[in-house]
Amino acid sequence: MAGNRLADKVAIITGAGRGMGRAGALAFAREGARVMVADIIEENAKETVSLIKTEGLEANYLKIDVTSSDDCQRLIEQTIAWAGRVDIVYNNAGISIAKRTEDYTLEDFERVIGINLRGPFMICKYVLPHMRERGSGVIVNTGSINSLGSTNPLHAVYNASKAGILGLTKGIAMDYAQYGIRANLLCPTYTSTPMVEGYFNSLEDPAAARREVASKHPLGRIATPDDIAKAALFLASDEAAFITGITLIVDGGLTSRFA
Ligand SMILES: NC(=O)c1ccc[n+]([C@@H]2O[C@H](COP(=O)([O-])OP(=O)(O)OC[C@H]3O[C@@H](n4cnc5c(N)ncnc54)[C@H](O)[C@@H]3O)[C@@H](O)[C@H]2O)c1
Repeated sequence: MAGNRLADKVAIITGAGRGMGRAGALAFAREGARVMVADIIEENAKETVSLIKTEGLEANYLKIDVTSSDDCQRLIEQTIAWAGRVDIVYNNAGISIAKRTEDYTLEDFERVIGINLRGPFMICKYVLPHMRERGSGVIVNTGSINSLGSTNPLHAVYNASKAGILGLTKGIAMDYAQYGIRANLLCPTYTSTPMVEGYFNSLEDPAAARREVASKHPLGRIATPDDIAKAALFLASDEAAFITGITLIVDGGLTSRFA
């Protein structure tokens, strides 16, 4: 174990089968948390758990679809059954469908909003009574630089989902501060995960696109999943005990850059 910043904590991370969710699961476990790895792809969730267990650390997994209200409720119930409580929820699962707005079907719209916004809402809805009863808890939701008005082509509905979760997170932070519960939004820039590699690969010249995007970041590169995991870990830990309702932008300076 690398440290004890989350000693004795129980954390749920959605979408932890790969990408930044997996990096977060490893980082949280290395700081002493017992981690419930939740993902729609069971094989990937199992693999994350085995990576954690290989280091002699504790984790479990549950196959869930965050668009299912029943699955979100089951996630909270089964985590409590496994570990006795839930201290931290890191809502990380998310998808992007890149299309012109006129080409978006209602099904596409509902899928993006369902995973990126409705899922985190339902998980919060089911975990907040438990956290309120215990007088403590931490929510880390996942936005994006797209929560803040940045955009990339063909991402209008994704932007809407990520702006929506900004409002949801601030509202929860204000309503639940009195119960010792903190809620913050993590806003990553382009991060080298399967999601963003898929985006680059859908473009005409992926290598040129990667170079161009990296060069726009004042720090000269895009983020790694570990960059994001470290920020999530900070927000989840007691080091952020007096921080609630904020957006933590992890973007190598991109959104501060003078166009
Ligand atoms: N990669 C980026 O550049 C970037 C930038 C800003 C924000 N984000 C956000 O960060 C989060 C993680 O992104 P990533 O790049 O690691 O993505 P990813 O696609 O690599 O991983 C997402 C994970 O979520 C899981 N998932 C998808 N739908 C699900 C569902 N219905 N129920 C449960 N799990 C589901 C997937 O199986 C996968 O394991 C997302 O919310 C994304 O919008 C990503």
